[in-house]
Amino acid sequence: MASRTDASARTDPIEALTRRFVATRGLSLDLVATLSDADASAQSMPDASPAKWHLAHTTWFFETFILRDHVAGYRLFDERYPYLFNSYYEAEGPRHARPQRGLLTRPSLDEIRDWRAHVDAAVGDALQDLSPAALTLVELGIHHEQQHQELLLTDIKHLFAQNPLGPAVWDAPIAREVRQFSAMNWVKGAEGIVATGDGGDGFAFDCEGPRHEALLAPHALASRPVTNGEWHEFIADGGYRTPSLWLSDGWAWAQADGIETPAYWRDNQYFTLAGWRDIDPGAPVTHISFFEADAFAAWAGARLPTEFEWEAAAASFDPHGGQQLDAAGAVQPVAAGGDTDLQQMFGSVWEWTGSAYRPYPGFRTAPGAVGEYNGKFMSGQFVLRGGSCATPRGHLRASYRNFFYPHQRWQFTGLRLAKDL
Ligand SMILES: [Fe+2]
Repeated sequence: MASRTDASARTDPIEALTRRFVATRGLSLDLVATLSDADASAQSMPDASPAKWHLAHTTWFFETFILRDHVAGYRLFDERYPYLFNSYYEAEGPRHARPQRGLLTRPSLDEIRDWRAHVDAAVGDALQDLSPAALTLVELGIHHEQQHQELLLTDIKHLFAQNPLGPAVWDAPIAREVRQFSAMNWVKGAEGIVATGDGGDGFAFDCEGPRHEALLAPHALASRPVTNGEWHEFIADGGYRTPSLWLSDGWAWAQADGIETPAYWRDNQYFTLAGWRDIDPGAPVTHISFFEADAFAAWAGARLPTEFEWEAAAASFDPHGGQQLDAAGAVQPVAAGGDTDLQQMFGSVWEWTGSAYRPYPGFRTAPGAVGEYNGKFMSGQFVLRGGSCATPRGHLRASYRNFFYPHQRWQFTGLRLAKDL
């Protein structure tokens, strides 16, 4: 990784942390600026949460793990809120059931905004005096909130897609920097023993380490993610009606749920955060499950990459580049430009890998409640790499591991093909 010699690396670290805290907290509010209290309170499925809940839960995280635990004399803004807005931390006690988050019409969106302002001011006042351990938790809280910003966007998209009126969260048109359909090439990957995982030179979630060795067989990666145009070919060729292409669990899922297209497709249009739009054939396909990605790869005579193949290829790319979330506004993946080397490694769409989300050798969870952050979810899920158009810029790294269950597809999920050489 290139050494950091720019001015930002020389500024006071607490000042830099404060700026990122303020910017991150501000972006969350920007994302809900066009939503009514009703928009922000509804829940469209158990996997999704209301926008208001995301705003509240990220605030609970800072109030609990920073203010309550590290600021003497801090009193909770409202002692009833931890029960409502603890997500899954058993160590923090009982909580409101996840599928019923949409029933929380109170507190109101404005009351949650007031709570946010209160907590932001208290964290801002405390930052200069926090211990290194507490500052690490502020850093974790910022990254946690960025994760929820992406979830907030995908959850509101899922909610609005249920409305026959097809409402737009933002009227702004979807950016179309490049529209041409770029050819797909095979790019030979690294082979042999490679170092993989977090190298300890900046923030990383616990599941990204320890750094260790992985063995890569001779392989190639596709130069870009699979496009909507290619997905149309898969559909036209009977991809969704050919059981031999599918994993057994995937076929059962597709039959039970009547799956025949990616999520949000209807005729030649798909639903976006700017409402219904014509499908762009050159843009990466998105809102597909692991099962669909795996079936497509089988149809294409290829396979999904392993997470280690992906990481080795991504190491030379800028993780803050590509199509990522910079500010509130409609997001939808756009086509890649050029057609030679690897493109869209970061941003655009999360890429399903064939790797199970399991601990790396030597992985240990942290003591206390934050030890529940990742480790306890290492069962039955697959790793996705590279981030999406809805991932806040600054959040990603080559070692970043996202994870979802194989049937889930309301995130901006896509795929990049790989093959053995
Ligand atoms: Fe969370």
